[in-house]
Amino acid sequence: MPYLLLLLLASQPVVADLSSARQAELLNMLKHDCGSCHGLPPKGGLGPSLMADAIADKTDALLFDAIQNGRAGTAMPAWRPFLNAEETHWMIQRLRQP
Ligand code: HEC
Repeated sequence: MPYLLLLLLASQPVVADLSSARQAELLNMLKHDCGSCHGLPPKGGLGPSLMADAIADKTDALLFDAIQNGRAGTAMPAWRPFLNAEETHWMIQRLRQP
């Protein structure tokens, strides 16, 4: 039974539990922090476009890694100190919305 529960939990979208206050903070961060390099809307600037069509062929894993760990040797910083896994997935889903 606990195993079944774990399976169920694992198959749920990880983005469901963020409070609306935290979601607002993340949106604000996307605009101001990410936007300062990726543009607003994020059509690209110092960093590449993060528009839905531009990232359509990139996997969640690739985007997740870029956001959490940054890209060494580029201006892209690691956001791990500020975004947990759930929040990072939420942002990715948000970016994927047209
Ligand atoms: C100081 C500038 C800067 C800021 C701030 C910044 N980025 Fe970036 N980002 C970059 C650059 C430059 C790259 C390209 C790195 C490379 O050449 O691989 C990048 C790459 C990425 C990529 C990989 C895109 C791809 O096509 O491979 C993602 C995803 C991303 N950034 C998301 C974010 C998010 C989300 C935020 C805000 C939480 C953010 N970035 C904030 C500069 C920035």
